[in-house]
Formats: sequence, C-alpha cells, structure tokens
Amino acid sequence: MLRSCCSALGLLLGLLSAHPASAVRAIVQLKQCGYKSLLEAKVTNVRGGVKVKVCGEEVVLQKEQTQTDAWRFLNWWDPAQKGEKLSDEDLKTLDDYLGDYEYSRPIGQIGHGMLPPNFEGFHIFEGTTSAMVQGIFKFEVSLGNALNRLPTTSTAQLYRGGWTPSEQLKEMQAALGSGSAVSFPWFQSTTTDDSHAYKFMGRKSEPETCAYDCIGKGEAFPTYLTFETCHGKNVTEWNAAEMEWLLLPGLRFKLVSITKVINDPWQEATPKDMAEWLRQSHTMPTKDWGRNGKMTFGPWPDIADAVLAHSIDGPAFIKWWEDRSFPEPYVKGKWDESEYLYSDKHQEFQSAANTRFKLPRISTRMGEGPNTVEYYYRINLQDAEPC
Ligand SMILES: *[C@@H]1O[C@H](CO)[C@@H](O)[C@H](O)[C@H]1NC(C)=O
Repeated sequence: MLRSCCSALGLLLGLLSAHPASAVRAIVQLKQCGYKSLLEAKVTNVRGGVKVKVCGEEVVLQKEQTQTDAWRFLNWWDPAQKGEKLSDEDLKTLDDYLGDYEYSRPIGQIGHGMLPPNFEGFHIFEGTTSAMVQGIFKFEVSLGNALNRLPTTSTAQLYRGGWTPSEQLKEMQAALGSGSAVSFPWFQSTTTDDSHAYKFMGRKSEPETCAYDCIGKGEAFPTYLTFETCHGKNVTEWNAAEMEWLLLPGLRFKLVSITKVINDPWQEATPKDMAEWLRQSHTMPTKDWGRNGKMTFGPWPDIADAVLAHSIDGPAFIKWWEDRSFPEPYVKGKWDESEYLYSDKHQEFQSAANTRFKLPRISTRMGEGPNTVEYYYRINLQDAEPC
C-alpha cells in the first residue's frame, strides 16, 4: 500500500506538541478520511486482485495476503449521528451482518487488507471482482452509519477470542512497551459473555492463509482480548445468542497487559513431570469422555519407565506418541502396533491425555473436542480516548 501524506501533518503535530492529546487528535481527524468516502472509491481490476483509490490513498487487495495497515487512514467514529433513528437499510444491514459469516467473513477479510477468496453473501453483486468489492464498501458504510446511530453506553467489559496476525501482535507488544495506543482498522465482533469468546480460539478458527499450523508458521496466534471501553455498540438486540457488541474500526486503545498462557502443560513438562502424570490415574470430567461406563483411566507405569529411561520430555512425548516410535524394550510391541490404535487401551490413554488442556472444550473439525492449541495470549485493553 502507498501512503501519500504526511510531512505537513508531522509539522502540525510538532507545533501542537505542547497541547493536550485530545486537541492533537481533533486536528489529525480533519486530515483523515471519513468512511463515507468509500462510496466514491475507484476500484479497478488489476492482475491478481483489485486496486482501490480513495482519499488520495491507494490500496491493492490480493488473495492470501493480509495487510493490517491497509485502511488506517479511514475515520469511522462519527458522534454527530448518535441517537438518529435507524433506517430500514441500517436494520437490514445489522440483520445480515450479525450471527452469520456470509457477510461478516468477507468484510473481515477486506478489513485486514485482503481480497476475499470467496465473496459469499456479496455474490449478489454479480459480475466483476471490482463490483463485488464496491458492494462490500457500500455495505460497510451502511454498517458504519448504523453503529454510529446507536447510543453509546457506560464503560463495558467486552471479550473477543480469535486469532491475531503476528504483525498485529508485535504492534501491540511494542505499544505495551512504549505506552502508545493501538487501533484496529476493521470491525470487531465482541461479546459481554466471557465464556462465549473462547469458542473462536481453536484450530478450526485459524485464518485460511495459514490454516492447520498458524502457530508453527508464526503467522497468527490465538488471543483472548478484553476491551474496557465506552465506545462499544450494543447489538445484542440483533444477536442475543452471542450477546454481541461491535467495535467500529479505528478506535484507539491503550495496552494494559499481554500475558502468554500455556494451554498444553506438556509443552513445558520435564521427563519427571511426564512420568509423574503417567503414574497417576485420571478421571474424566463428564460421562461422554468415558468408555463403556468406565470413567477413570491409567496409570501407565510401562510408559512412565520408558519416559524416564530415555529422558523424554513433554514435546518429545507428544511427537513420540504421534509417531508411535516407541523405543525398546519398555513399550515396543505393546503400544506401537496398528492393532492397538483403536483399542480401548489406546483410546483410554487419548481421552486421559485430552484432559490436560486448560481452555474449555469446543467444536472442532471432528465434532466436540479439546482445544489443543499449545498456548494463547491474554490481552487487556482500555480506551485511549475519553468517553
Ligand atoms: C444491551 O442490549 C440488550 C438488548 O437490547 C439489553 O437487554 C441490555 O441491557 C443492553 N446492555 C447494556 C449494558 O446496555
């Protein structure tokens, strides 16, 4: 993306540095481009994607490539519309957007500077890619209008579970260090139900660009964000099941903390820890984890001996178990033969192993199961702008 600003703005900021932060921001906003300008954006098809020209800026959107900075110049917060009655179009937009991925997914992808691989709900704008992108802009403007018209509330705790691209995580870590603010240039779905937010942190919710191994590739990480904000818009009326609130793009937040939380304790387990776990029996939390009415599995002293004899720590054990590459003489021939793979013995071990994860069980690609991500980040944010 090319940016054509900023020397005059830099000078202005320099001159204003003695003034309070809010005065600086008011000036910066004048320089920014209001979201309704998207209706006048020039969108042209280019090789592999589209080029968007708006407010003197140029953004090239391509498949399979995110740019978390693409829309940083757009300003979405417009308190002048607050309290206005929602139009029929506003209501239809909220209905379409909420509780369904058909519209929200392509909008999320565009927000992250990526051309949607599949336009889903926006295929109604039959024809060229550029026409569909224009259809998305029109929808986004309508969503911006609807949210700006909704009333503001007092400070609320809003939760968002999901996957954060590494570039954005780095930006938040840097902001925590420097005390500067961050913003997210896309619409964010959040909920007041803290337990609901965990459902989007599993491997099934990984971004498509790195699906199946986003952590391993270092491209995106599971995150649990808590926003303490008075700028959220309560849309629970349209999506009660998820107790949803939306955040307009571009709101500014201060980082309060970022904590890495280990979800799979075996990632940090020593051989001694592993042996200790294997020498204990493990009781299943609910009936459906049991097998044939049996609820307690283990211990496995033969594997515990092998783990100690070969100094196998948690990560090595995980690999060892997946490959069934057991060394002689402890367990060879007992656990590694394919006939054991679906045996009660093997399945019981697997169920017991699944109890180790800290995050709640979720819907996975193979039905309900454990959330097996190795770790996640807990990130707390607060408004950087006064209410
Ligand atoms: C959010 O909206 C729902 C549904 O309209 C309402 O019941 C709830 O009280 C609202 N919450 C707040 C904090 O305003």
